[in-house]
Amino acid sequence: MTTTPLKPLTETPRHAAGETKTESQMELNAEVNNAYLHVITRLTSAADQRDHQTANHVKRVSAFSEILAKKAGLPDEQARLIGLATPMYDVGKIGIADEILLKPGKLSAEEFETMKKHVQIGGDILAGSGSKLLELAREIALTHHEKYDGTGYPKGLKGDEIPLAGRIVAITDVFDALTSNRPYKTAWAIDQALNLLTAEKGQHFDPNLVELFLQAMPEMIEVIQRYQDKF
Ligand SMILES: [Fe+2]
Repeated sequence: MTTTPLKPLTETPRHAAGETKTESQMELNAEVNNAYLHVITRLTSAADQRDHQTANHVKRVSAFSEILAKKAGLPDEQARLIGLATPMYDVGKIGIADEILLKPGKLSAEEFETMKKHVQIGGDILAGSGSKLLELAREIALTHHEKYDGTGYPKGLKGDEIPLAGRIVAITDVFDALTSNRPYKTAWAIDQALNLLTAEKGQHFDPNLVELFLQAMPEMIEVIQRYQDKF
């Protein structure tokens, strides 16, 4: 009895099959990336809605952060990653009780200690994914309240001990908070907010990044115009 030898698998048109697989993998990657960004946006907006942050606040802070990262000399791809990771910086607020998060007046010392926990809660939510984007988001969540002179929290890191992305978001978050209208306060003028950033150079903020932020004001103003809040 003669047997027809099995065709070796290598006879399959490898190149063409390889191409098809690559294309479908790319489609799947694009789909996963897209879904991933939507999940992040929705998770973030769930956290933000609790303390009256607007979706546009997060979009502005992210865009400011990407621009500032580029000005700081990061390659476009790295700056883009910072822009994508930024929206999650306050996601830990989801774990803070309403009576503290939504308290209209000043927090007591004890309440402020509780409020500070949002950085660690955010860090925990974002930990352990193995994703470069979520690791960066975690770093930002953990370090956006550190101050350049070492008086911030949670660790009191100083200067370059604070990761660059955390130093960037420290500036962009405060700038946007100052220049935005909120139900309980009117916005500061841009010049007034820039004066505060300048006054806090080397104390709250990285002095070099403040300079770069000031130089990038035309681009920052475009961002403000693109994502205006409507009350
Ligand atoms: Fe925060």
